Amino acid sequence: MQKETFGELNLRETNSRQLGYTQDFADFVGNNQKVLHTSYDLIHEILSGLRKSSPVMQLERDGVSVSFIDHEVTNKHFKVESGDKTFFVKREAIWHEKTLFFRGHNAYNEIISSRRARELLKGLPGVRVINFQLAYRNKKESFFVSTWADLSEIDSKLLKKLESRIAVIKQRLKGYQNIVESNMFYDAHTDEIVLYDLHEGEVKKGR
Ligand SMILES: Nc1ncnc2c1ncn2[C@@H]1O[C@H](COP(=O)(O)OP(=O)(O)OP(=O)(O)O)[C@@H](O)[C@H]1O
Ligand SMILES: [Mg+2]
Repeated sequence: MQKETFGELNLRETNSRQLGYTQDFADFVGNNQKVLHTSYDLIHEILSGLRKSSPVMQLERDGVSVSFIDHEVTNKHFKVESGDKTFFVKREAIWHEKTLFFRGHNAYNEIISSRRARELLKGLPGVRVINFQLAYRNKKESFFVSTWADLSEIDSKLLKKLESRIAVIKQRLKGYQNIVESNMFYDAHTDEIVLYDLHEGEVKKGR
């Protein structure tokens, strides 16, 4: 097993699994031992019922609540609540990749790219990266977890105001895919753009 820590992200890789997590998240799970298993089970129960005529959209067990939000072509999004914590979970079924080390869109690359983006944006005011927490990936599926953000999307009016700022962010994050307003929130309290869905074109470990 390869193991490394860089910045605030712990990374583990085996031939069949990739895992990245923050220390905060490890502490949370350490104090809530069942939360991962329970969330995993509830997510899978919701997923397996989605094709039914009246699918279940929300389930609760052992103090964990999982709500289905929506789905893209391959990704499904959930809100997971446990105690005073709320998380966003993006789950992707991996059916198109034979190899684990494909360097495209996936949770593990997303968490490394997000960590790297935070570094690249250092010192630039008016922007921050989503509070990423966990990425887990095996050969069949992946999960990306961030702290739930109750923030506004960027509409065309807001976009006018933020346009020049976004241009500077794009400059800093050269080589990233999809630095577009549909992958950003706006935090009116701090006047910050909040970036998510970050994927560096070619992700190399340890950068
Ligand atoms: N931390 C978060 N808290 C709350 N909502 C979030 C969070 N992160 C993402 N979202 C919401 O979930 C949606 C999907 O997120 P994201 O873009 O990461 O997923 P995706 O599957 O790559 O979607 P797409 O293919 O549309 O880019 C976002 O448009 C946003 O509205
Ligand atoms: Mg997106």
